[in-house]
Amino acid sequence: MKTLIRGGTIVTATDLYRGDVLIYGETIHSVGADLSAQADKVDKVIDATGKLVVPGGIDAHTHLDMPFGGTYSVDDFETGTIAAAHGGTTCVVDFAIQQRGGSLREAYDTWRGKADGKAVIDYGFHMILSEYSEPLVAEMGAMVDEGVTSFKLFMAYPGVFYMDDGGIFRCMQRSGEIGATICMHAENGLVIDKLVEQALAKGNTEPRYHALTRPPRAEAEATHRAICLAEMADVPVYIVHLSAAEALHEVTRARDRGLRAYAETCPQYLFLSYDNYEEPGFEGAKYVMSPPLRDRTKQDELWRGLEFNDLQAVSTDHCPFCFNDNEGKLLGRDDFSKIPNGAPGIETRMSLMFDGGPARGRISLNRWVELCSTSPAKIFGLFPRKGTIAPGSDADVVVFDPAATTVLSAKTLHMNVDYNPYEGRRVRGATETVLSRGEVVIENGQLAARPGRGQFLKRLSRFDSPTGVATPAPAEVPS
Ligand code: URP
Ligand code: ZN
Ligand code: ZN
Repeated sequence: MKTLIRGGTIVTATDLYRGDVLIYGETIHSVGADLSAQADKVDKVIDATGKLVVPGGIDAHTHLDMPFGGTYSVDDFETGTIAAAHGGTTCVVDFAIQQRGGSLREAYDTWRGKADGKAVIDYGFHMILSEYSEPLVAEMGAMVDEGVTSFKLFMAYPGVFYMDDGGIFRCMQRSGEIGATICMHAENGLVIDKLVEQALAKGNTEPRYHALTRPPRAEAEATHRAICLAEMADVPVYIVHLSAAEALHEVTRARDRGLRAYAETCPQYLFLSYDNYEEPGFEGAKYVMSPPLRDRTKQDELWRGLEFNDLQAVSTDHCPFCFNDNEGKLLGRDDFSKIPNGAPGIETRMSLMFDGGPARGRISLNRWVELCSTSPAKIFGLFPRKGTIAPGSDADVVVFDPAATTVLSAKTLHMNVDYNPYEGRRVRGATETVLSRGEVVIENGQLAARPGRGQFLKRLSRFDSPTGVATPAPAEVPS
């Protein structure tokens, strides 16, 4: 199959020009100012006049079919990746979970079983370690061999995922040795649990107490500690779902000191705020996630962090639970601490970030692409196969209409959840056509491919990746 995408404005993390993209099979063959002569020789021509042609989005933080808080996130690898594709995302990196008492291999096999034969786009895994033991630390190398080259650890959720500093330090040391990256959920879970206990003892059970018992300083302190532990263990650390400006200050300080500290934020922290918890009745439960939404006045600091590269990526932390569901948010009707943590977002990331970013002049088009695709590809060992439009890269390409306007609504979006946190919000920019490894998966806003075509991605370790920092030995300079 040969495809020509003609006449669009090609945007990568570094370039912006009118041009054509020629695709042979699953791969980008060439990119040029005028490849129209090829039009007669290809099987399909996509007219991208007036549109942006960008690398498919990479969402490096999703929870599909995830067991959590006594229930499961409601998008599985089929519904979740279909929704992702509709939103211009062609690759997700989901979190496989090592269950306490179980092995990493079991977790890997379980998540392959959840995803293989269901996903419509390509996918990789990080691995969550739910506990520390030396046998698990020893097993981490086998996961890197499978292409699971990052491990998520938790400073929050005592009794569930929480790991103490000694365990964290050992997992970090091992990651440093094997070229893996540590993803950190940075909130001081022990302090938070005390605040939750105190709030409930006073009868404060409403959703907003979720935020009030998880103060920004609990995130900043844990972020600082995570960075210090990573410095001592000599490993890069990537702070996931950073929400508090106070935590961003810690990342900025660390980067200024020359440390390999990275962080992502998520659209919810840029577009929603603590005010949402004050919505009437139980509505605030829709926004219960950890870390929580923060003060609206702090959002500009996050945008500046994105602009100036103190934040390197935007992912979604997509972890949806239905609102009107006894197995969903209603589990916490009488006690905010029982509301399952998480919200939907896999489908709305690219358009929200376009609308809030380049369309408002907050970040450039290049930076939009970099944050939503190129930078996650580089950090997580997928570049240059994914994350750019270049000869030899996978033909994961999105034709994006910058002039379209959409009103976000659960009724028209494709995520398998009964509400949307952005219900009624008008956004500029919409995904029109999406190709995944050369195959059109979304055409004029409609699903055009079969679930199960998505492939598991073996990601590269930092030692094997051309963009990996801290390669083991400097290259020889030819004489
Ligand atoms: O509230 C959240 N973030 N739910 C998903 C689990 C996690 O900590 O990422
Ligand atoms: Zn987390
Ligand atoms: Zn998460």
